[in-house]
Amino acid sequence: MSEAERPRRRRRYAGTHPRRFEEKYKERDPARYGEEVAKVLASGKTPAGMHRPIMLREVREVLALKPGETVVDATLGYGGHAGDLLAAVQPGGRLIALDVDPVELPKAEARLRALGFPDESIRVHRTNFAGLARLLATEAPAGAHAIVADLGVSSMQLDDPARGFTFKDDGPLDLRMNPERGTPAHALLAAVPEKDLARLLNDYSDEPLATVLARGLVEARARSRITTTTQLARAIRAALPPGQQEPDTVVRRVFQALRIAVNDEFAALEMFLRRLPACLAPGGRVAILTFHSGEDRRVKHAFRGGLMDGRYAEIAPEVIRPSTEELRANPRASSAKLRWARAAS
Ligand SMILES: C[S@@+](CC[C@H](N)C(=O)[O-])C[C@H]1O[C@@H](n2cnc3c(N)ncnc32)[C@H](O)[C@@H]1O
Repeated sequence: MSEAERPRRRRRYAGTHPRRFEEKYKERDPARYGEEVAKVLASGKTPAGMHRPIMLREVREVLALKPGETVVDATLGYGGHAGDLLAAVQPGGRLIALDVDPVELPKAEARLRALGFPDESIRVHRTNFAGLARLLATEAPAGAHAIVADLGVSSMQLDDPARGFTFKDDGPLDLRMNPERGTPAHALLAAVPEKDLARLLNDYSDEPLATVLARGLVEARARSRITTTTQLARAIRAALPPGQQEPDTVVRRVFQALRIAVNDEFAALEMFLRRLPACLAPGGRVAILTFHSGEDRRVKHAFRGGLMDGRYAEIAPEVIRPSTEELRANPRASSAKLRWARAAS
């Protein structure tokens, strides 16, 4: 066999613990390596290529599903919430699931279909939840009995350096949940005027150093183009005033702001929230998980507005936070906030 014909061997990692995403092939194949996956979970980490559903019990309680109901998961992700909710509406109920991510959506759909529920009880759409009302006009004209939205990015998106969401590993500075549409973050960063960049960092991440960082990043990009995640992280750290505490927190906030911008996340969320009461059947329930103040503020105001004008009969009196046990088992739940509302009957 010639060198060219020989099958390529999987890259092995040196040592006992794989560090790079592509080396974590055992974690990414739970069917073959269940024991390894269980070990990673038990250590409080999320295995590569997996997402742990956040506040699963609380979401289930809030939505109070009954057999035969129609439930919408507006952010399917790995399908953790969806699988649980699908089981809760059996027998006779339906799940309508949405996500914009063309990479993860087919895998999540396959996982849902493998759960053994009737095929016709699962409907999966690659759609932005901003268009949920239009979708339900044909899928569930009388409205959904329950809707869940678990905002932001999934662990699969976050952990895969090729998607450009993480600054822990080098990858293209992309940050799009749907890499087939829109502008990647490196292109936005190359073109955005300094003033707009400062506004973006302030508005999308409440970044206290927005002006300083915008200046530093504009200077850095004039020296050389910023096209990868680690180049951006380095440029952010270099732009910080000396003695800045917790530089990684600032890096995380800048990545968050760029992610919100390239995915137009707030416009989608606002449209979703505006149309939400019309998407619910009378008495229908909605649960929304948020992960930063910009999201939570919007949900809180929309729910309060809906209560005032009578479209909602009841809303969460206060935000619900993950339990201490969940925080211990899954640190990624730390910033989660859950709010719910019930449509008027
Ligand atoms: C936090 S994850 C959801 C995880 C999921 N609840 C689970 O248990 O596996 C968020 C998902 O929402 C998707 N998403 C974000 N914004 C969206 C939008 N506007 N429309 C549809 N999907 C969106 C992302 O692509 C991602 O897969």
